[in-house]
Amino acid sequence: MKKMQQLISEKPLVAWGLFLGTVIIVFFVGLFGASIVERRSEAIQRFQIVKPIAEWEPRNEVWGENFNRQFESYIKTLDTNFASKYGGSAMVDMLQREPNLVVLWAGYAFSRDYNQGRGHYYAIDDIRNTLRTDVPQPATCWTCKSTDVPRLMNEMGVSDFYKKSWNELGEEVVNAIGCQDCHDPKTMNLRITRPGLIEAFNRQGKDITKASHQDMRSLVCAQCHVEYYFKGKTEKYLTFPWDGGISVEQMEKYYDDVEHVDFVHTLSKTPVLKAQHPDWELAQFGIHAQRGVACADCHMPYKSEGGVKFTDHHIQSPLNNISRSCQVCHKESEQTLLNNVYERQDKIKELLLLAEHSIVKAHVEAKAAWDNGAKEADMKSILTKIRHAQWRWDYVAASHGGSFHAPLESARILATSIGRAEEARVELSKLLTKLGVQTPIAMPDLSTKEKAQSYIGLDMPKLKEQKKTFLSTVPAEWDKKATERQSKMNN
Ligand code: HEC
Ligand code: HEC
Ligand code: HEC
Ligand code: HEC
Repeated sequence: MKKMQQLISEKPLVAWGLFLGTVIIVFFVGLFGASIVERRSEAIQRFQIVKPIAEWEPRNEVWGENFNRQFESYIKTLDTNFASKYGGSAMVDMLQREPNLVVLWAGYAFSRDYNQGRGHYYAIDDIRNTLRTDVPQPATCWTCKSTDVPRLMNEMGVSDFYKKSWNELGEEVVNAIGCQDCHDPKTMNLRITRPGLIEAFNRQGKDITKASHQDMRSLVCAQCHVEYYFKGKTEKYLTFPWDGGISVEQMEKYYDDVEHVDFVHTLSKTPVLKAQHPDWELAQFGIHAQRGVACADCHMPYKSEGGVKFTDHHIQSPLNNISRSCQVCHKESEQTLLNNVYERQDKIKELLLLAEHSIVKAHVEAKAAWDNGAKEADMKSILTKIRHAQWRWDYVAASHGGSFHAPLESARILATSIGRAEEARVELSKLLTKLGVQTPIAMPDLSTKEKAQSYIGLDMPKLKEQKKTFLSTVPAEWDKKATERQSKMNN
């Protein structure tokens, strides 16, 4: 005490400094305490369920009554205005952009119509509108489109759900991807509702209920953004080909072992594998997944509104939102980060196009071989190489975002694709010479989607007319029945 008085009289400035310093420290300690309290109340607010939600409630707006912020941000997936260089929410006709695709998928409904993915809100509209659903499809196609799916699987049993036809369940499946798909309505914990993922984990000897919270922030996406096939001619049981692992080679081996064929190519007669969208699998080979960054970290960043922090449910291209999606971890400017993404995408695109050109040529040359009397035995090894080349190309092409999520693995896969295709072409060139056919074989004009479609023999006007008839009658009927049914549900 004596010393303090001495200090005040001898060095008043130092004393004042000490006093002010203490005040500042006390102020910040208080602020910190308050912020902890605030955060706790944020957390409480986040999980308040005012109106109990039924176990299999499919309607997003009913969930939304409890969770206005999440619902309002989810509704933004309606927006179709953002286009980045390769992605975004705008409707893009991929066949127009790349007519080569038409030839690669000759013999499969994708050659009729293929658009870039839009927001989750459009899942039902887009599957109704596509020319691909004019060929008879199983109900399995609905699996990744709607919150009605968990409800129906619970009512009907999983295998009976898959066995129905797509048309039969049209009036039942009307609510687009939403809350029910990822959340438990009692606790709002993340939960897996799609059996395909749970079963794939089981067959690998893993238990998905043991997954960490951070892993769940990716696994909810892995219910749909993955590779799968419909197992069994009549069962059409949705199955992930992961038994031997999730690399492109391991899945290829799985498909070869079970002799799975998605379609036989019209030109080359190759037993083709159509990749779905192994987004989650390919991403696991990238640095972000390996550093524990989850899909939700970039595609569902946190947002603050009126002092409340919540998860942005406007799932979209992170390039529409670099500050919240990337700059929470990276200090570089938006432009630098954007350039980083584009640089990777551009380079993968270059390889992707090389692979496409090689595979298209292989299909056309194989057709020439058949036309000139090639035998099954001559073609066997060639067709296996084309099958593998196309699977590997498609694996990367269909992996939305893969060229950013895992650029190195994407490049490696495409290199092996180009390698297989060119090996097939070397064999083809020898075979064509043996058959007395003049090489090189002339390539068709594939400069537009229309030219490519007429080359593979599609009658597009007829297909479009068929779809118009369907759209002008059936969906309205489905929606009417669904509205009647739903109005009887309690909420
Ligand atoms: C480190 C951030 C990051 C992580 C983690 C991440 N993504 Fe992405 N994702 C991106 C970027 C960047 C793009 C490219 C968007 C574009 O081209 O507009 C993208 C693209 C996509 C696309 C295509 C979107 C479009 O508009 O074309 C899908 C689908 C996707 N990601 C799903 C996933 C899934 C599923 C996971 C988890 C397995 C995941 N992403 C993890 C950053 C990320
Ligand atoms: C129930 C299945 C399902 C789940 C679960 C799901 N998606 Fe999707 N996702 C889809 C479908 C189907 C589309 C394409 C919709 C369309 O084009 O109509 C899509 C589209 C997207 C797009 C493109 C939208 C755009 O604007 O570019 C992104 C990005 C995306 N999903 C990311 C994710 C992420 C991240 C998760 C997990 C947090 C996730 N999805 C969970 C099925 C699903
Ligand atoms: C594609 C999967 C997916 C869909 C669809 C989805 N959510 Fe979420 N939701 C998540 C993820 C991931 C989180 C973050 C959870 C965490 O980290 O604990 C989350 C968090 C939440 C939370 C916790 C608070 C917060 O903001 O972090 C609430 C509440 C919530 N969601 C409500 C909804 C509602 C309401 C809907 C439908 C309108 C919905 N969710 C649709 C994946 C989804
Ligand atoms: C949750 C944190 C987190 C988020 C969000 C995140 N990153 Fe990263 N990013 C990382 C980590 C960790 C690494 C690995 C670097 C390391 O370990 O030093 C990385 C690496 C990278 C790299 C180098 C990858 C390579 O190919 O070598 C790029 C580029 C990058 N991030 C861009 C982005 C972009 C663009 C976004 C937003 C779309 C994003 N990151 C979002 C954490 C994050």
